[in-house]
Amino acid sequence: MSVNMRFRSRMRSLNAPAEPSKQREIAPPEAPSSTVCDDLPAAFRQAMRNISSTVYVITLSSEGRRWGLTATAVSSLSMEPPSILACINHRASIHAPLIESERFCLNALRCDQSQVASAFSSSGLGEDRFRAGRWVDFGGAPAICDAVANILCRRSMTTSFGSHTVLVGEVEAVRVDDQAPPLIYRQGTFG
Ligand SMILES: Cc1cc2nc3c(=O)[nH]c(=O)nc-3n(C[C@H](O)[C@H](O)[C@H](O)COP(=O)(O)O)c2cc1C
Repeated sequence: MSVNMRFRSRMRSLNAPAEPSKQREIAPPEAPSSTVCDDLPAAFRQAMRNISSTVYVITLSSEGRRWGLTATAVSSLSMEPPSILACINHRASIHAPLIESERFCLNALRCDQSQVASAFSSSGLGEDRFRAGRWVDFGGAPAICDAVANILCRRSMTTSFGSHTVLVGEVEAVRVDDQAPPLIYRQGTFG
C-alpha cells in the first residue's frame, strides 16, 4: 500500500462514526491514595511533615549577646525591595530580642550542618548553641561560615498571627555559595 493510500484509509477510519460496541469505556477516576482526616490540626501537621523545607538558623546580636534559632518557616517575599519573611513562635527565646532588633541574619544551612540545626533547636542551650559551627560577624549579626547563604536583613515590620510573629526583613547584604547543597528537613529528619 502506497503512503497516500494508507493516509486515505486512516482518514476514513477516523471519520467513520465509532460503532457503539467498539466504543471504549472510560474508567472512573481512581480514588486518591490519600485520606481526608477529621482531625484538622493532625492532618495539617502531617501534610507539613511531608513537605521538604530548607533549614535556616536565624541569628542576631543584642547588647553583647548572641541569639539563634533553627527555622524552616522562612520565605522570600519580594524583589522590590529584596525582602524575606520568617515566622517565629512567641515562646522562642529569640522572640523578644528579635522584635526589638535592628538587624538579623538568615543562615541557609548546608547539607552537612545538621548538628548546627539540632543545636539551635535544642531548648536551654542559649549562647552555647554557637559552639556548633564557625561563626563570624556579618554587619552586626552572627553569620555561619560555609553556609549556602548568609542573608543580612534590617527588620522592617512584624505582625502577630496565632502562636507566631511574622517578621519581614529587608535584605541589606548577601553572601552566597552557589555550589553548596542545602540542608533539608522532612518527616522529622535532616537530609
Ligand atoms: C527543623 C526545625 C524547624 C523549625 N522551624 C521553626 C520556625 O520556623 N519557627 C519557630 O518559631 N520555631 C521553629 N522551630 C522550633 C525552634 O527551633 C525550637 O523550638 C527552639 O528550641 C526554640 O528556641 P528556644 O529553645 O530558644 O526557645 C523549628 C525546629 C526545627 C527542628
